[in-house]
Amino acid sequence: MLRAPILLAARNKTVERIVTNWTPSRAVVDRFVGGADYSAAVGVAEGLIAKGLTVTMDHLGEDVTDVDQAQETVRAYQNVLTALHQAGLTGPVDGRPATARADVSVKLSAVGQALPGEGQKIALDNALAVCAAAEAVGATVTLDMEDHTTTDSTLEILRQVRVDFPATAAVLQAYLRRTEGDCRDLAVAGSRVRLCKGAYAEPESVAFQERIDVDLSYVRCMNILLAGDGYPMLATHDPRMIEIAEERSTFHGKKPDQMEFQMLYGIRPTEQARLAAAGRTVRVYVPYGSQWFGYLMRRLAERPANLGFFARALATRS
Ligand code: FDA
Repeated sequence: MLRAPILLAARNKTVERIVTNWTPSRAVVDRFVGGADYSAAVGVAEGLIAKGLTVTMDHLGEDVTDVDQAQETVRAYQNVLTALHQAGLTGPVDGRPATARADVSVKLSAVGQALPGEGQKIALDNALAVCAAAEAVGATVTLDMEDHTTTDSTLEILRQVRVDFPATAAVLQAYLRRTEGDCRDLAVAGSRVRLCKGAYAEPESVAFQERIDVDLSYVRCMNILLAGDGYPMLATHDPRMIEIAEERSTFHGKKPDQMEFQMLYGIRPTEQARLAAAGRTVRVYVPYGSQWFGYLMRRLAERPANLGFFARALATRS
């Protein structure tokens, strides 16, 4: 019910101007976005890493409409990777050689995937360029997952990228009916897989609609990943999912350096600290850049439950 008006508002320049200049917006942006540019974001990353957390940096902006914009995205990632390296924030976590302190999360639509004709090839070449820049400084790359029409294309690009850069991580969304199967395919040695619930409005034909069904799928998928030989990255703020993950990881004998938790910047920082203090690897997803209006509005629109998600986050720091 709320999705359509939020999406409409997200494309409206007047609403963007009003929201951008509205004083309370600043508080939301400062809370959820790690800065207007990469140097501010690297400062945020430094603070998080100093607290024993790890990071994945997301240069805001998706759905590019031409090749030049896609190239700009690649340069943006190269810049943030260089800056992370110069700040001494790359390389493995102490005592966990398989885990990079810094990762970058890339949306393939931001590097050309949706461009007509050669989009798939352009996105592959650009993803390879980001992976090369990351590998050169001891960082890793995660390919974010977008709406279900892109899943096959994204997993195919992942497969090709992993030939040269096997540490590149996949993202799977528990709300998709296909995801248990994808988990089985990807739960292999060396395979880094982020499991999230999924943030887009998807039709019933491909996705579970009820929260309980999504949660049950999340648990089934996490079990497959934790039982496998890969490196599960459990991205959720849900206390129930986290509790089950802690129990299941012990059950499956996954040591703290064989899996990690992931959460968004500004959401449940106290829980992030608790898990890190308990010896868990915790990675914080840090979006940054000037295009925050679209990011926040789309997050709300993709899943109306996120309205409560952001409201709760403003109300509590637990
Ligand atoms: P959900 O939103 O269902 O909330 C469940 C419970 O968590 C709540 O009932 C409450 O108890 C608790 N909770 C949540 N927020 C809280 C708060 N602020 N304070 C207290 N309690 C709170 N999606 C996608 O489609 N593609 C992608 O590539 C990614 N990438 C990604 C990376 C990372 C690191 C994260 C954390 C998430 C994503 N997502 C994503 C988004 C994801 O799919 C999902 O939309 C959100 O994480 C929300 O789902 P949760 O599992 O956190 O729980």
